[in-house]
Amino acid sequence: MFITFEGIDASGKSTQIKLFENYLIQHNFKVIVVREPGGTKLSEEIRNILLSKENFNMVKECEIFLFSASRAQLVREVIIPKLQEGYIVLSDRFHDSTTAYQGTGRDISLDDVFVIHRIAIDNCIPDLTYFLDIPFEESIRRKKQNNISPDRIESMGKEFFERVREGYLQIQKREPERFKVINGVDEPEEIHKKIVEIFNNKLNSQKEMI
Ligand code: TYD
Repeated sequence: MFITFEGIDASGKSTQIKLFENYLIQHNFKVIVVREPGGTKLSEEIRNILLSKENFNMVKECEIFLFSASRAQLVREVIIPKLQEGYIVLSDRFHDSTTAYQGTGRDISLDDVFVIHRIAIDNCIPDLTYFLDIPFEESIRRKKQNNISPDRIESMGKEFFERVREGYLQIQKREPERFKVINGVDEPEEIHKKIVEIFNNKLNSQKEMI
C-alpha cells in the first residue's frame, strides 16, 4: 500500500508519520518512509535548489518542473521497487502538494498540473492520503513556538496558504475515497487513532476485493 501525508507547514505530519510507522512495525508490516521533495540522492539535490532562499526569483513554471522531476526519480528509484517488494510506503508529501501549492496556490491551471503528474508519477497514485488540516494561524503559532525559520516557500503569506488549503479541500471533493481530511488541531494521540482506523478500513476493503 502506498500512503501519503499532506498538510500546510507545521500541520503535524512528521509526528503522525512517526507514530504510524511505529504502529505498522509493531503489526509486522514492512514499512519505509520517504519525504518530498527528496528521498533519493538526486531528489535531495533538487530539494536544496527548491528550498534555498537564494533562489527567490524562481518562476512558478521552473518550480513545478523541479518538484515533479524530484518526484519522477523517487517514484522509479524507490517507491515502485519497494511496493513490489511488499513494503508499505509512507511519503511525507506527494503529488497533491504540487496540485495544492503550485496549482491552486501559484495559479497554474489544474489541467496542466494533471498532465505533469501523468508524466512524473504515471499511475503510481497513492492508495490513501491523509490531509492534516490546520488553519494558517495555527501553523504560524506552532512555527513561532518551535522557533522554525521559514524556507523559500514557507515565507509566502496568509493568502497563499489559504489558497493552498482550498486546493487540498478541492482534491477531497474530487477523490473522497482516497483523500481523507483529518482535523490537525486535535490531540496527536486522537489523530493517530483516526489514521489507524482509516487504514484498517482500507485494508479490510482491499481484502474483500481479493
Ligand atoms: P519541507 O521542509 O519538507 O516542509 P514540510 O515539513 O512542511 O513538509 O519543505 C517542503 C516545502 O515545499 C513545503 O513548504 C511545501 C513545498 N512543496 C511544494 O510547494 N510543492 C510540492 O510538490 C512539494 C512536495 C512541496
